[in-house]
Amino acid sequence: MGHSKNLFPHSHYVDSSLRKKLTKQQPMLIWLSGLSGSGKSTIANELEKKLYNNGFLSYLLDGDNIRVGLNNDLGFTDEGRKENIRRIAEVSRLMIDAGLIVITAFISPFEEERALAKSLVLEDNYFEERAVKGLYKKARSGEIKNFTGIDSPYEIPKNPNLIVDTENESIEQSMLKVYDAIINKIRYK
Ligand code: ADX
Repeated sequence: MGHSKNLFPHSHYVDSSLRKKLTKQQPMLIWLSGLSGSGKSTIANELEKKLYNNGFLSYLLDGDNIRVGLNNDLGFTDEGRKENIRRIAEVSRLMIDAGLIVITAFISPFEEERALAKSLVLEDNYFEERAVKGLYKKARSGEIKNFTGIDSPYEIPKNPNLIVDTENESIEQSMLKVYDAIINKIRYK
């Protein structure tokens, strides 16, 4: 893909391991996947707050925000969603390299693009979480076409690191589950 034939990426003196010494944190990509309305953005927000309060530097990439900016040329066809996630995966890779704890909140319905995100950062730096629950009032009434879970597919993550059941857990409980699962990985050692 692309025009990479005549490009020769080179390494920089200040690399991710040097940056890690400065930031005192292990970068990580925390990938939240789930249906629309499942609570991804809310959990992501609370998680970021918790990380911030504990001295960790993070950045939250969220579907509704990114789609009005960087990805405002993309729609909700399968192709649009794939390109949406491909770009997010690449942006996440850069942010991981920059030393940040990256949290993403996208439906990310396709296994292949989630696998791409995982492959772009080191396996150890990838944490996948699936939020369970969804709200579809508008889609059910036919107001929105190609809505995930109604007339557009969602491939359920086969092997997520964590499943949070937002229908039966409070936001605080779900957020703490994620936080507890990652905190030891992101502490600088
Ligand atoms: S993804 O499938 O490409 O990963 P993404 O997470 O960026 O989706 O965007 C989902 C957001 O767009 C939801 O918050 C939802 O409100 C809105 N949205 C608008 N149209 C659709 C649609 N057809 N399917 C799903 N979400 C939609």
